[in-house]
Amino acid sequence: MKDAAYEIAIFPGDGTGPEVLREGEKVLGALAEGGTGPWRATEYPGGGQYFQRTGREWEPEGEAAAHRADAILLGAVGWPGATLPNGDIAGRALVLGLRESLDLFANVRPCRLYPGVKHRISGEYREVWSPKNVDLVIVRENTEDLYTPARGRLRRAGETEVAVDTRIITRKGAERVIRYAFELARARARGAPGDGVRRVTCVDKANVMEGCRFFRETFDRVAADYPEIERDYAYVDAFTQWLVRDPERFNVVVATNMMGDIITDLAAVLQGGMGFASGGNIGAAHAMFEPVHGSAPKYAGKNQVNPFATFLAVEQMLRWLGERHHDARLIGPADRLEAAIARVLRDGTARTYDQGGTVTTSGAGDLVAAALRSEAR
Ligand code: IPM
Ligand code: MN
Repeated sequence: MKDAAYEIAIFPGDGTGPEVLREGEKVLGALAEGGTGPWRATEYPGGGQYFQRTGREWEPEGEAAAHRADAILLGAVGWPGATLPNGDIAGRALVLGLRESLDLFANVRPCRLYPGVKHRISGEYREVWSPKNVDLVIVRENTEDLYTPARGRLRRAGETEVAVDTRIITRKGAERVIRYAFELARARARGAPGDGVRRVTCVDKANVMEGCRFFRETFDRVAADYPEIERDYAYVDAFTQWLVRDPERFNVVVATNMMGDIITDLAAVLQGGMGFASGGNIGAAHAMFEPVHGSAPKYAGKNQVNPFATFLAVEQMLRWLGERHHDARLIGPADRLEAAIARVLRDGTARTYDQGGTVTTSGAGDLVAAALRSEAR
């Protein structure tokens, strides 16, 4: 527990990022009402649009705050045409850059379908997806694999002839993220929704790739320390079918970076779409939380997008901070926020356009803030 206020560095970023983070801050404000919360949130500029205006991705103060803060909240980065001279997306510093420089090795993406939310798959087997059977967490390795900047082009006479990305899997990188997944399976209140079994599923392509074989070997080595947790394996191609068909089999899933990137977006469909997908980029000493939908340029400035992913990211952040510092002053608000989110979703009054409703981004924020104020204390 900390005596001074916890410092939260907020980077609204690009496009719809500032719109959803404004609602996130509204909800933080409602949580602190009648006293101040034990946190101090400060906004810093940065991202692709900022780069287009200033020629800089962010300012030294923002970068220093990110490195100093107890937790970081990120809106979204990326804007059409905003590209760094080397071809990378402008704003990379705030997401991929911080994952590297703060060593945020686990990307933790909860996937839960709340009562009252419609999943995003239609068809004759739609009863398969219900809040009863979608409650899993995907833990994605977040610092290596194809994301390691071990890449380049071979140019001859100014013409690109070859482009190479190198897939790097290290013992340290694999081991720590797999251990994170097993610890999470141990700590979670419930096992898989289908059978209640605590299970960690290793998603890979170990039938083909050396890096995946090594990842799986590491998985087996770490799993030996957790005899009470079932170990499970899925090749990534088959996993995509099983996830959609039988989500209730899954409890905690662990994957390498690139495959994890893909399967987490797929999983978001089962929780109502990207509008409900939050993620924590978690390291040993730092963490950054974000709605994972991105800047959605098409919707920017329309006060239309779904801010629930941001509310869930705020909840994930408060819980992480509270657990890390053994501080009930943060766990309490995380619980209250989770309950308020669930209540508002259940009664169906906060449906934004993606859920077939007409509620605006700020309207949804008002509803969650009001739910926090009206709760029985
Ligand atoms: C994510 C995003 C990022 C990634 C992009 C914005 C670089 O898709 O967090 O999943 O690929 O990791
Ligand atoms: Mn992604």
